[in-house]
Amino acid sequence: MKVLLTGATGFVGSHILDNLRARGLEVRVLLRKTSNRRFIEPHLSHVELYEGGIGDPASLGAAMAGVTHVIHCAGATRATRDAEFYEINQHGTRNVIEAANCHRGKISRIVHISSLAASHPAPAAAPAREEDAPVSVSEYGKSKLAAEKEVLERCQVPFTILRPPAVYGPRDDGFLALFQTVRRHFVPRFSGGIESLSMIFVKDLAEGTVTCLTHPAAEGRTYFVASPEVVTVRGFCKEIARQLNVWTLPLWLPVPALWPVCAMTELVCRLMEKPSLLNRQKYGELRVPGWVCDATRLRNEVGFVASTPQSDGIRQTIAWYRENGWL
Ligand SMILES: NC(=O)c1ccc[n+]([C@@H]2O[C@H](COP(=O)([O-])OP(=O)(O)OC[C@H]3O[C@@H](n4cnc5c(N)ncnc54)[C@H](OP(=O)(O)O)[C@@H]3O)[C@@H](O)[C@H]2O)c1
Repeated sequence: MKVLLTGATGFVGSHILDNLRARGLEVRVLLRKTSNRRFIEPHLSHVELYEGGIGDPASLGAAMAGVTHVIHCAGATRATRDAEFYEINQHGTRNVIEAANCHRGKISRIVHISSLAASHPAPAAAPAREEDAPVSVSEYGKSKLAAEKEVLERCQVPFTILRPPAVYGPRDDGFLALFQTVRRHFVPRFSGGIESLSMIFVKDLAEGTVTCLTHPAAEGRTYFVASPEVVTVRGFCKEIARQLNVWTLPLWLPVPALWPVCAMTELVCRLMEKPSLLNRQKYGELRVPGWVCDATRLRNEVGFVASTPQSDGIRQTIAWYRENGWL
């Protein structure tokens, strides 16, 4: 078994690489010249390195030759322009699928990492299910849905689509600002917007992804992959505060009032040609009541449950942030 992994240098991909290597599997990674290799440094001398990108079909064709399994994790979660989401998430996925199709019969499974954002926002009382009609509220979500369609309509190799919700854990810079805010004694309390969330600890996501790579029942299936613990933003922050041993004050954030902040941050970042964390897409994702999904299909068909308790995930995340001077 030899696995090609795209997106290995990123937050999620680097944990998938850890998992594959811990299982002693042969791994090939596709890296761009510009890729920052800091998270995968210990593995570099033990994996096959192929240079290229998902926007470069020739490099993908070369990287697919001789592998038996593929994990497609590369993707854009932030962008300076909306079109970038589609270039990387949709067209990049199309390139991956077309390259894999040239090796059909030799590749036994592709696991495609999608997102809950491709589905629809949902409150804890009525979580999103895989069979629901998608209602993406951001260009990111629409591009991830378009990527899923590329897989469903074009892929001639057995595949599995995984839709994680918000992912947290060591090496993540997305939730870092929230941990830093709590360390400064503030717990954001959104009013008129998001309350409940499904989440997944990144090591659970890596385990679920690699499990689906070979599980017979996962062939051709789409799954939410999430912790069974539904969290509130407040509850998540309270647990961070407890573990950091800091007192906190509520920071009231009426979501509608965030629109100008998001729009201004986006404009400034666009002028600086940098992707922004706060933008109008993020505003669209914040002004809904929740992003909760039901992961029972994955549990029933594959037997996989994201088992890390939130308190343990937060503990590991804080430890890593501290060791690396991020917090
Ligand atoms: N983080 C989350 O909360 C979350 C939630 C749901 C789904 N997801 C999905 O999980 C996947 C990974 O996300 P992440 O959070 O790990 O993002 P990330 O840290 O930004 O990593 C993105 C990875 O994709 C690679 N990549 C981007 N554009 C590429 C291109 N044109 N060619 C080749 N590689 C390219 C990056 O390579 P470079 O190092 O070269 O830039 C990097 O390895 C994405 O598909 C995302 O949609 C993430």
